[in-house]
Amino acid sequence: MAENSLRLGLNIDHVATVRNARGGAYPDPVRAAKMAEEAGVDGITAHLREDRRHIMDADIEGLMQALTVPLNFEMAATDEMQAIALRHKPHAVCIVPEKREERTTEGGLEVAREENKLAHFIAPLRDAGCRISIFVAADQKQIEAAHRIGADIVELHVGAYCDAHAEGDFQLRDTELDSLRKMSTYAHSLGLEVHAGHGLTYDCVGPIAAFPEVQELNIGHFLIGEAIFRGLTPAVHEMRRLMDEARG
Ligand code: PXP
Repeated sequence: MAENSLRLGLNIDHVATVRNARGGAYPDPVRAAKMAEEAGVDGITAHLREDRRHIMDADIEGLMQALTVPLNFEMAATDEMQAIALRHKPHAVCIVPEKREERTTEGGLEVAREENKLAHFIAPLRDAGCRISIFVAADQKQIEAAHRIGADIVELHVGAYCDAHAEGDFQLRDTELDSLRKMSTYAHSLGLEVHAGHGLTYDCVGPIAAFPEVQELNIGHFLIGEAIFRGLTPAVHEMRRLMDEARG
């Protein structure tokens, strides 16, 4: 992969959200993932939550069997999720904080305070061949801790930047963007691979895609929503085009 290339990972959780609103089998997230793969995405992300509110265990099984692009398995640092990851051995695991009452992943993982525990938690996953990604805020302390425990990747939480953009608070947006820029450079200087995600849309993806250190964007809710209007393949193609344009 060329140094300057930027991968697009599609998060298919919300295909499962729509399916689960009625129960039953459709729309099928595995079918959506295969369609996205044909549309050129570089990876698929799925978050198996403790409460199974969207992705279910059988979806992970189906994705592991069907995909040719890498699966990024998002999970909380629990024994249950570790056992599932060890059973499937996905290409990557992305460790995220998880609260039952939240609507979506609200912040980055508290790595610094849980360093020893997390180091033990990820060790068998790494031994099983999974790349280890940690979802963190643009916070030097958390990035350093992720590096110390031996993570391969940090995924920067860009939600606050995206929200500020959507709300028209451009001063806050630019402050957030500035810390994300500094922290992506810093993480890269430590030898970490840098990813970014949460809340990205056509309107706000450009400045993040332009960070030269960022190698992957993981985007879900907006693209699955946009697929209602244009279809999944054109929705993915437009995101790809905007990412390439920003990357120059
Ligand atoms: N990356 C991580 C670690 C996430 O938790 C999420 C949300 O599940 C995403 C990316 C995708 O965010 P969104 O659905 O807002 O694009």
